[in-house]
Amino acid sequence: MLDIASGRGTSALTIATEYDVSMVGVDLSAANVALSNGAAQAAGLSGRVGFRLRDAEKLSVSDGSVDAVVCECALCTFPDKPAAAAEFARVLRPGGRVGITDVTVDPDRLPPELTTLGAWVACVADARPAAEYANILTMAGLRVSVIEHHDATIGRMIDQIEARLQFLRLTSRARLEANGVDVERAGPVLGAVRTAVADGVHGYALLVADKPA
Ligand SMILES: C[S@@+](CC[C@H](N)C(=O)[O-])C[C@H]1O[C@@H](n2cnc3c(N)ncnc32)[C@H](O)[C@@H]1O
Repeated sequence: MLDIASGRGTSALTIATEYDVSMVGVDLSAANVALSNGAAQAAGLSGRVGFRLRDAEKLSVSDGSVDAVVCECALCTFPDKPAAAAEFARVLRPGGRVGITDVTVDPDRLPPELTTLGAWVACVADARPAAEYANILTMAGLRVSVIEHHDATIGRMIDQIEARLQFLRLTSRARLEANGVDVERAGPVLGAVRTAVADGVHGYALLVADKPA
């Protein structure tokens, strides 16, 4: 099973703990790959869970070599979403399945403050409506079987990010500022996202699609 844009490895490690599967996680961040491999080792799962540095739009993974793909909260950040979806389809075996979860948007109602680079980093600037994610998967040759809306999830994610920001303010402000990171810039973006969620502009969706056998 392949976790594309595996971040710090949380989903891959959770799946490998719940199910007897071999997992490969790929991410564009070398730091995340190193952290994830450390976490797999610490969890005693490094025999069947590993993480590699890869670009989701150009995976060096053989055609038809995986049973399932997951991509959580990351398709919205990829500049070329059709290229990434084509890679999902290419690496899946016929009959294989992909599950994605992602931030959704009503693009006609996106406020200007959520189209900035900061908003892109916060995963919302290039989010798409659930129907558009479904279309991207369909155009890649996959058959979409499930579209579920889980809009309350994004509110909980904002709570978690705000808690982490507060932790960083208290523990690492000087180090971050020395590296040119202004933790205070995230606050207004998160506030705007919270308002957009309350107004129904942003939501969160889960989609499942199959590669025809
Ligand atoms: C919001 S995080 C999601 C991480 C993880 N899937 C999760 O749910 O916790 C987005 C991740 O996508 C990764 N990423 C962004 N663009 C990528 C790309 N083109 N290829 C692979 N990973 C990418 C980032 O490094 C980051 O770890």
